[in-house]
Amino acid sequence: MCQEKKEKSRLSFSILSLFPGYFDGPFRESMLKRAQESGLIEISLIDIRSYSEDRHNRVDDRPFGGGPGMVMKAEPVAKAIRDVKEKGSKVIYLSPQGKPLTAKLCRSFSEENHLILLSGHYEGIDERVIESEVDETVSIGDYVLTSGCSAAIVFVDAVSRFVPGVVGDEESVIQDSFEGIGLLDHPHYTQPRNFEGRQVPEVLLSGDHAKIEAWRRARAEENTKMRRPELLKKRRD
Ligand SMILES: C[S@@+](CC[C@H](N)C(=O)[O-])C[C@H]1O[C@@H](n2cnc3c(N)ncnc32)[C@H](O)[C@@H]1O
Repeated sequence: MCQEKKEKSRLSFSILSLFPGYFDGPFRESMLKRAQESGLIEISLIDIRSYSEDRHNRVDDRPFGGGPGMVMKAEPVAKAIRDVKEKGSKVIYLSPQGKPLTAKLCRSFSEENHLILLSGHYEGIDERVIESEVDETVSIGDYVLTSGCSAAIVFVDAVSRFVPGVVGDEESVIQDSFEGIGLLDHPHYTQPRNFEGRQVPEVLLSGDHAKIEAWRRARAEENTKMRRPELLKKRRD
């Protein structure tokens, strides 16, 4: 993480937050770690507090008009964004009020070169800096998190999977839920054949690839009908 830049990575993320330490674990493990080591993605962590000109390094203040909580001030956020912005960078504010993050949106973000992810805290960020600096606002779901840090982790993970080479077997990305045929994935099984009396479906042991394919497709349709029927409607429309 945050390694010296040798060659330009396929996709760079700059995460602006008040808690850079929050990201220590998730980006140092597994596929995202390997993707950084192989130069496919690059992740830089920027501490918004280091852009505060306040004598006490404060980055928040009480809201005009009164009410509960604190609001992140515009100046340090604007300075941080302007400092990391390059030609072609896209600035994304993670907010519960944003456009829902879908697989389709992740795929399109994966084609960018540099994504600046702005993570808020407290009641949010002074609206004026959102108006002046942000290109898109994205939500990871209809619930409110304590900060945008966990949303930034979800965003980097979901978008990076679409960068060629990040997931070892690209076929598995195409076969995942929401991809390709727009259905949920089929169920998966591995050893042992008998787990506490539950058997692996016979067809998967048959070696007949056409039959296995047909079975998987039927189970994917069943799964989707049972768990997310609105996806089937979307495919028909
Ligand atoms: C407590 S929230 C502020 C919520 C804000 N007052 C509202 O109701 O829209 C603090 C920060 O967490 C992040 N956040 C919270 N929920 C989120 C979500 N569902 N998706 C993305 N970011 C989220 C945003 O960056 C936000 O500025």
